[in-house]
Amino acid sequence: MSQTRMLSAEAYDAIDKEVAKYPPNRKQSAVMAALAIAQNELGWLSESAVEDVASYLEMRAIAVWEVATFYGMYNLKKPGRYKLSICTNLPCALQGANKTVDQLKALLGIDFNETDLDGLLTLKEAECMGACGDAPVVIINDREMRGKIGVEDVEKLLEELKAR
Ligand code: FES
Repeated sequence: MSQTRMLSAEAYDAIDKEVAKYPPNRKQSAVMAALAIAQNELGWLSESAVEDVASYLEMRAIAVWEVATFYGMYNLKKPGRYKLSICTNLPCALQGANKTVDQLKALLGIDFNETDLDGLLTLKEAECMGACGDAPVVIINDREMRGKIGVEDVEKLLEELKAR
């Protein structure tokens, strides 16, 4: 059975460009980039999207699932309008990330990997983003980094996102 294509022509072109960076028999090396391109276009990676990437790269679906489930930046459930990921690794923890997390959870009424009732915000726990000097660090939608987010900054950050 042939796989239904899920992405735009532009997205497949972008995947082709990633594939071209590797030897012809190594197109599966572009799997992380291909998943990111699919997620960027669709907002998240449904089962069909992952299978489409697998079929496009001529990989077994299970191998693509292994990548998609290993890395925290892939959304395997439809996220809220904003995905707020907060680093809880040691340098951030030493600067109070856990207190920031507690405040986020309390104000949003959700735990990690949940979305608030308004569908605005999904909270994720993240690994070190290499910006430890600005700990505690959060990243919005995998792209916009904010540093030094202490307990006292949480309410303002949430208000800002709601107002966008
Ligand atoms: S430990 Fe949080 S950014 Fe490095």
